[in-house]
Amino acid sequence: MSSPHNSAEIGDIAERILLPGDPLRAKVIAENFLTDVKKYNEIRNMYGFTGKYKNIPVSVQGTGMGIPSFSIYVHELIHVFGVKKLIRVGTCGGMNENVNLRDVVIAQGASTDSSIVKQTFGGAISFSMLADFDLLSKAVNNAKKLNVPVKVGNIFSTDYFYNDYSDSQGIFSSDGLTLDRKMIQHGILAVEMETAALYMLAAAANVQGLSICTVSDHIIKKEYASAKEREKDYNDMIKIALETAIQD
Ligand code: HPA
Repeated sequence: MSSPHNSAEIGDIAERILLPGDPLRAKVIAENFLTDVKKYNEIRNMYGFTGKYKNIPVSVQGTGMGIPSFSIYVHELIHVFGVKKLIRVGTCGGMNENVNLRDVVIAQGASTDSSIVKQTFGGAISFSMLADFDLLSKAVNNAKKLNVPVKVGNIFSTDYFYNDYSDSQGIFSSDGLTLDRKMIQHGILAVEMETAALYMLAAAANVQGLSICTVSDHIIKKEYASAKEREKDYNDMIKIALETAIQD
């Protein structure tokens, strides 16, 4: 049996998985970090691979960009293929002053403008989307062991790549701060487009979710890391994610 978007057979996908948005990034991670690699999916070119890291089975699956695409793959991974530990490895845009290009950010929580949360709770409560604490604390420890500085905190998962929250024509708060400044004032570190869905889907299914991102651009400072500059920091993030995924 497989699923509509994933041609893997039951048992082909490990209980521990890394989730990059870019399917080619999944291939690079599998080729550079895993041994005994087998490709289990190429429907829509959304590659998925299973291999071993330090002799423990680990999979890596592309998800595409944004909450709808991400949620399709993650739903099937959890509910059809029985995945239990899911670690997103992506990029994010820095928002806070203290966040710099190429930093590694671990999302302790995710705030969102996505309707998925409102719809799930009928608009009655504002659900807090949190990282799994066990994965979070392990990832922070592994980063220390690997000598990689990380920033840990709240991030913003948005449905809009091109929405301008600094635009006073848009939604802005009653104290005159534009929405991006309001979020920064409340400690939001960075923006990306998937983590809130991971934390919500993981919570609903009682499995473990964590999101780790490398800062690829800074939306306030208007800075962009080149692909080459990003490479090393991306690899640091992958090491943190893999070490965390294989720990019991
Ligand atoms: N916005 C949303 N998602 C992102 C960004 C951004 O600026 N950078 C990397 N992922």
